[in-house]
Amino acid sequence: MTWLPLPAAAASSPLLGDLVQQQFDPHSREANNQQLYRLLRDAMLQEQLPPGLRLPSSRQLAIELGVARNTVIHVYERLAAEGYVSAGVGQGTFVLDTRPDRLVGRDSLQPPAPPSALRPAISARGQALVAQAGAGERQWGAFMPGVPEVRTFPARIWMRLHNRQWRKPQPDLLTYAVGPGLPALRQQLADYLRSSRGVRCSPEQIIVTNGAHAALQLVALLLADAGERAWVEEPGYWGVHSVWRSAGLETLPVAVDEQGLKVDEGARQGEPKLIYASPSHQYPLGAVMSLARRRRLLAYARRHNSWIVEDDYDSEFRYGRPPLPSLQGLDPHGRVIYLATFSKVIYPGLRLAYMVVPEALVESFQTGLSELYRGGQYLTQAVLADFIAEGHFVAHIRRMRQLYARRRQALLTAIRQHFGERLPIHDGAAGLHLVLGLPPGSDDLAVCAAAMAAGILTRPLSQYYRGSNAQPGLLLGYAHVDEADIGRHFATLAQVIHRCCAP
Ligand SMILES: Cc1ncc(COP(=O)(O)O)c(C=O)c1O
Repeated sequence: MTWLPLPAAAASSPLLGDLVQQQFDPHSREANNQQLYRLLRDAMLQEQLPPGLRLPSSRQLAIELGVARNTVIHVYERLAAEGYVSAGVGQGTFVLDTRPDRLVGRDSLQPPAPPSALRPAISARGQALVAQAGAGERQWGAFMPGVPEVRTFPARIWMRLHNRQWRKPQPDLLTYAVGPGLPALRQQLADYLRSSRGVRCSPEQIIVTNGAHAALQLVALLLADAGERAWVEEPGYWGVHSVWRSAGLETLPVAVDEQGLKVDEGARQGEPKLIYASPSHQYPLGAVMSLARRRRLLAYARRHNSWIVEDDYDSEFRYGRPPLPSLQGLDPHGRVIYLATFSKVIYPGLRLAYMVVPEALVESFQTGLSELYRGGQYLTQAVLADFIAEGHFVAHIRRMRQLYARRRQALLTAIRQHFGERLPIHDGAAGLHLVLGLPPGSDDLAVCAAAMAAGILTRPLSQYYRGSNAQPGLLLGYAHVDEADIGRHFATLAQVIHRCCAP
């Protein structure tokens, strides 16, 4: 803000009387003081009332407008408090110069920028992120992949546990969180992971984040520099690609087969700093990484000093044989960062995930997390810790596993009814979705668009590939679709497939 020398005759301009009088409407529904304030402020911002101009006295303006003098005094005081005018007792009220610095001087002579130049300038990094965005707009409806059944979540229990915390909320749970997650939750998770996923960890190694993407970003920012390479599965989870690319990494797609990530193919592409893998249930095709491949991957990472991110996003839901223990549990050399989310086992809107980091990384990750994201949600974490400690977590997973198994079976039956063995199914008997392959050459994007128009949500498999080898198919989520409706919804989709692909 700059003070301008006052004009010699700093009398109030007749302009002001005209300007305000023309626009001021005493019968408006807007309060008089608010209306007068708005008119004066806008006139100053648009420089219709230029800097240095003296405003009429409150008495004079009140008479001109036919309002109470106090109204004008109140408005002048407000404008003075906000820095638009100067006011001193008995000295008059003057418009201050509030023009932004860059407009003062030479820049003010430049013609205004054309409208196209006013479009927000997105960085090259931002453009790449936006251009290949993976998240869809609608998330609820048959057969949106990756969505758990949220209607059967034990809301009453959750509410009771929440109420218990809120009855006498601890200040520590409501303020900025110190550390990488509530100790009580990290203790519960360490016990759960050791017994059910074969993860070797102490509670200190657990870092709680706001969803898996924050964890992936932290890994990239702390362990790799811009320009370094990262392997991502091909086809694979779009999120890791987006997050790591925007952190400046060069992501190299590495093909998967029925044994999981093809380590030897990756090795031919170049040594990576980071490797992303979903060994329990490859996303989206469903392969379970074989023991031989796991050992090969661990040996490779050790030899080349690469870090492996093991994304164990939905292995709780396995229909048939029990899940293989985690890759992390097989790793004696501390090269694996185990990543899991509560999105599939509780509900996605919770936005809580966690990592188990090797001991050598604990301190850097704890500090990095609080520097970048500031911890929080400790009260929710306390509820979650109680939910696990009282056995509701495991019971909920068990119930959902049975429910999803029936829904998966209903979808498999519907597919076979409509297509027999003509279309391949990839699912690995786990998780919340399966992939229905389409005949070679099919346009799965067009199928998805036509399905959407018929009220069915699916995702095209080809969009999960980064390279040129994309296969057509549809990701079909069944976990949140009522068993009784699956046949009907699939019949609609089958019509679309027949129309678009003639299988
Ligand atoms: C393979 C995979 N990993 C991670 C996530 C993300 O989890 P979050 O909900 O914590 O962001 C998803 C979400 O769908 C996923 O499919």
